Amino acid sequence: MGEALFLALIALHVLAATAWVGGVLFFVFAVVPAARAAPGAGIPEALGRAFRPVAYGALGTLIVTGPLLLTVLGISPRTFLQARFWADPFGITLGVKVVMIVLVLALTVWHDAVLGPRAHRTGEPGATRIVGRAIGLLSVAILLAGLLLAQGL
Ligand code: HEM
Repeated sequence: MGEALFLALIALHVLAATAWVGGVLFFVFAVVPAARAAPGAGIPEALGRAFRPVAYGALGTLIVTGPLLLTVLGISPRTFLQARFWADPFGITLGVKVVMIVLVLALTVWHDAVLGPRAHRTGEPGATRIVGRAIGLLSVAILLAGLLLAQGL
């Protein structure tokens, strides 16, 4: 039962990671260049609106399945109080991963709720593109951190 639950959770986690990271990279490498080539055509706004439920659904799934994976692995909130846990490679990777996830969440909300609508109003991308790239880089780093965790590192 434990193994089946773990497999179900890791499958959901990996599918959601694929949807999130793939979507973010598609925006950085396809949507932004297309928007540059056709400014004012509303390309990033239309695609962003259409993809948002998938992106937020994937992020939500990651944030739910991640802690559930830790629970199945026998890592409880009590473990987090032990200094020893944070000195282990697994604890260090998890700590770095969680900090990057918090950053990605904050940057995504800022990008979607503040910077994106402002860029749309003014016609100037401003910080939208650089924040979008930061979200892309961090998302890839989070994915790599996940691979280390899966190796127990
Ligand atoms: C943007 C968010 C996230 C992404 C892109 C992501 C990505 C990944 C990936 C690609 C793996 C490797 C799976 C494998 O190779 O089997 C993984 C594993 C893992 N993730 Fe995440 N993850 C995210 C959020 C979280 C969160 C919020 C937590 C918990 C706080 C978490 C905890 C874990 C754990 C414990 C593993 C290792 C499972 C194992 O032992 O096989 N992840 N993650």
